[in-house]
Amino acid sequence: MDLFNVYSLFNVTPVSAHDCTIVDNKGHEYLDMYAGHAVVNIGHNHPKYVSAITEQAKQLTFCGTSMENPLQKKFAERLGKMSGYPDYSLFLCNTGAESIENALKMASFHTGRQRVIAFKRSYHGRTSGAAAVTDNPSIQSLYNRVHKVIFVDLNDIATLTRELETQKVAAVIIEGIQGTGGVHTPSKEFMQQMEDLCHKTGTVLILDEVQSGYGRTGKFFAHQWAGIKPDLICIGKPMANGLPCGGVMIAPQFEAVRGRYGTTFGGNHLTMAAANSVLDVLEEDKLMANALAMGEFLKEHIPASSRIKDVRGKGLMIGIEFREPVAPIRQKLLTEKHVITGSAGMNVIRLLPPLCITQQECYAFINALKAVL
Ligand SMILES: Cc1ncc(COP(=O)(O)O)c(C=O)c1O
Repeated sequence: MDLFNVYSLFNVTPVSAHDCTIVDNKGHEYLDMYAGHAVVNIGHNHPKYVSAITEQAKQLTFCGTSMENPLQKKFAERLGKMSGYPDYSLFLCNTGAESIENALKMASFHTGRQRVIAFKRSYHGRTSGAAAVTDNPSIQSLYNRVHKVIFVDLNDIATLTRELETQKVAAVIIEGIQGTGGVHTPSKEFMQQMEDLCHKTGTVLILDEVQSGYGRTGKFFAHQWAGIKPDLICIGKPMANGLPCGGVMIAPQFEAVRGRYGTTFGGNHLTMAAANSVLDVLEEDKLMANALAMGEFLKEHIPASSRIKDVRGKGLMIGIEFREPVAPIRQKLLTEKHVITGSAGMNVIRLLPPLCITQQECYAFINALKAVL
């Protein structure tokens, strides 16, 4: 059997890694400026993380969801405190898209409404409802298009007001910072007005922090820069630094109905050991402060060039928009300078390095970019 051929691959075969360095099967070292789509936030193979999952694997990796699992309780309590949401509860699942599906379902059950507002350039995943609220028709089949979704321009408060005042909208779903759509941050004023409107119209506000959350922007969640408090927060990618993990953080007014939500693998022992160690490292190594400092450093030092149109983002979620397609630039960075980057659309290089990146590694990236340009 062959693999279902859905990914564009670089011709690199990683075999090991540490911190922000990936080593391939020929012994070449690469600087990782992408952390596997913002997943490896504490860096590759942190000794504490490796030891936590190794020890857990020796004890118990999986036992299902019908028995007590103290690792989940420890994690939820810890996450609530660290993120500033101690009074919320946590539903554990396995991926970002699964988190989005559950949040949309919770909002619809809670309000008794069906319609959802999403934003132009959004990305929320590829499963049924997640693809429906993603502004990309090329990933939506007819099957996805049965959901009732309206796309509004980011920061367009007038249209949002008109839609929400119908009092027929179950939820507004928005990314803390739009990642896949090109690294676009909603304005603080818009976020605050949207929160207010949601309260007034009984609409659930869902913040998708799957990519922008977990310290990447220098606060635990990107939306915290706007000082707002959503009803549901979707988390995923970096929760277990590479083991599949997702979650929905849920405000107290939502009812936990037995049997309505569930998953086979969510919150298993091995993943929870990893997730707890990620929070330990995030705190002990002061990675949120480092993300903010290194992010500012990178943005300041990205070379001035007539080929670059804009540099934007917050902390270590950075978009460099070019006036030309970035594929050849990224290819050169990889093959000539051994630097791994991401993209967002045709013209944006997306940087999402591990939050433990050093100033020396930032310099290495800047110098590589200068040379390639
Ligand atoms: C903002 C956002 N939401 C949801 C998802 C979906 O997450 P997953 O790929 O784990 O299903 C992604 C993945 O890139 C994302 O960036």
